[in-house]
Amino acid sequence: MDFKSLIQKKRDGFALTKEEIEFFAFSAANETVPDYQLSAMLMAIFFNSLNEEETLWLTDAMARSGDMADLSGIDGIKGDKHSTGGVGDKTTLIVAPVVASCGVRMAKMSGRGLGHTGGTVDKLESIPNFRTSLATEEFADIVNKCGLCVAGQSGRLCPADKKLYGLRDVTATVDNMPLIASSIMSKKLAGGADCIVLDVKCGSGAFMKDEESAAKLAEKMVEIGRGAGRKIAALITDMDRPLGKNIGNSLEVIEAVETLKGNGPEDLTEISVLLSAKLLELAGKGTFEECKALAKSKIDDGSALRKLAEMVKLQGGDENYILNTEFFPRARCSRKVIAPETGYISSMNTEGVGSVCVSLGAGRQKKEDSVDASAGIIIEKKTGDYVEKGETLATLFCSDEALFGAAEKQYLGALNFSQSEPERIPLLLRIVE
Ligand code: URA
Repeated sequence: MDFKSLIQKKRDGFALTKEEIEFFAFSAANETVPDYQLSAMLMAIFFNSLNEEETLWLTDAMARSGDMADLSGIDGIKGDKHSTGGVGDKTTLIVAPVVASCGVRMAKMSGRGLGHTGGTVDKLESIPNFRTSLATEEFADIVNKCGLCVAGQSGRLCPADKKLYGLRDVTATVDNMPLIASSIMSKKLAGGADCIVLDVKCGSGAFMKDEESAAKLAEKMVEIGRGAGRKIAALITDMDRPLGKNIGNSLEVIEAVETLKGNGPEDLTEISVLLSAKLLELAGKGTFEECKALAKSKIDDGSALRKLAEMVKLQGGDENYILNTEFFPRARCSRKVIAPETGYISSMNTEGVGSVCVSLGAGRQKKEDSVDASAGIIIEKKTGDYVEKGETLATLFCSDEALFGAAEKQYLGALNFSQSEPERIPLLLRIVE
């Protein structure tokens, strides 16, 4: 099959056949087609989309492009969780150990940062020696040992998505519904879990900016999961403001640990408990309300924090970083962003805030870029907060003072102020089951 003519077919608005979609996915997985042609195809899909059938075929082909995790050797119910991507979204680091502490095995495959959003793999790699690249057998072995493993897409798990994900990150082809649905669901199907909870983010910091498109994406993914025989639900949650206060890799691990100690910000704690409870409910641990209480109890008694430390150790990382986050090196440079006026923060362009974080070094501009583990932002004031002129809005962290000038301007440009208190938006907008 000639790849150039496939690009042309999609560019001209035609649907691809099952064989052509498979050829695209397997060419990406085996790297038999150069990046520029794969990127051109992604852009053609971005503009002309994929229909329902094409999306299902792509999901299935990407899931089969490598090993399908065989979790049959693991006793008990296996759970998984995935977010469509947000700013300050470190819920996996909380939900996975909470759910594992309740006896549901968490076999979780995560990604790196994508566009303006962070990725769990980059966050975990801020812990020295932590390994996210695991062979399928070791992945299953660690879940068996401690009930929990968070791995990246190492060599043979969904290599097609791994390749395309990296290209989408740097070719402005992320925010496309069929590409997001197939990317997430291929990993979830290959990951082998029985129960899956999806966190579909909605708002200025999400890829889906409004509730209707978030709901459509959620329905599409729930349908794919159900079709594959999995128990699945999606929570549509607000991403019109960053989640929690810390954005950036090690800063987010630190905040997740604080949340597991019961000292986390309210919004992050609430979303993490809701996601955990939905997954526990799918796994048959009780009603949603009972599961919320169960999830909270695992934070209160410290068992979820111990579980995270155990997983870090088994994946080669230094668990002392979890037990005492003072071990994380601090960024070389910091700069306070000061309120230019008095009033309420009426809204935040959350994608803009995420982009500031990327420009400070916490994310990638090019595929081969490495990330700066300690770069990021600690937010002091968010949407709805009243601020006095001269108060600190946020602190920026990075390794190069020269980055602050533009970053500070961009951060202030992402905030809007008003004299009246803005309406509070609930964190949980909808549940799709
Ligand atoms: N998370 C993924 O794994 N893929 C996407 O496309 C978006 C978020």
